[in-house]
Amino acid sequence: MRGKFVAGNWKMNTDLASGLALAKSLVGGIAADGAISAGLASGKLRTAVCPPFPYISAIAEAIKGSKVELGAQNCYMEKPGAFTGEVAAAMLKDIGCGLVILGHSERRHKMGETDSQIKAKLLVAQGAGLEVILCLGETLTERQAEKTFAVLAGQIVGALGGLPVEALDKLVIAYEPVWAIGTGVNATPGQAQEAHAFIRSELAKHFGKAAADKMIIQYGGSLTAENANEILSQPDVDGGLVGGASLDAKKFLPILQAAVA
Ligand code: 13P
Repeated sequence: MRGKFVAGNWKMNTDLASGLALAKSLVGGIAADGAISAGLASGKLRTAVCPPFPYISAIAEAIKGSKVELGAQNCYMEKPGAFTGEVAAAMLKDIGCGLVILGHSERRHKMGETDSQIKAKLLVAQGAGLEVILCLGETLTERQAEKTFAVLAGQIVGALGGLPVEALDKLVIAYEPVWAIGTGVNATPGQAQEAHAFIRSELAKHFGKAAADKMIIQYGGSLTAENANEILSQPDVDGGLVGGASLDAKKFLPILQAAVA
């Protein structure tokens, strides 16, 4: 039985003070909520925050002793060395990150990141001991042209093609339709389920059904307290990768509640 995993992607938001306040109110809110605490204690629920690089160490202190996991939003595709301005996966591991988001659509589309770069990053990140949250998702134009499945299949091959099944041990997939990110327009529960089931079937094709059945596939794209119940109750939706609603504990905690309901 797969549990649920809800992670907050803070993107390029917060300052140090507001990031610390957010982390503290999250930890306090979790401690005060019996269902969320029980879910985290039993392993049926995981949660994480992914702050901007400069604040990760401070947030690590703020969540210490809690069940909130720590992630970064990107890393470089090389081991430490002469790469001015980049951040190595090993450095993230060193400061307490267990996770790194890779292939986010903002990096694919705004920074021009390619599948082969994402694959290289994934290998370096897993090699450094990080678990990767790999983001996949189609643009509105691709969906309207009925290319959603082809895009998802291509992104899966692009990042994971030829890797051994063990690559799935330290991997979470996030389905994030680009048209739903930060727009207030979420995928319908049916659209999310359809895409998640497709992603799982592609993983089964490449890695076998047993490995695919174990995979956590998060939904991301305008996930809120209001729509979380319905979306997270879809059979192949195993949690969420939350942007906007992760910046306020009062909005993030109800998504955790929906995940354990
Ligand atoms: P929003 O929840 O703000 O739509 O962002 C989703 C996302 O991109 C998470 O990585």
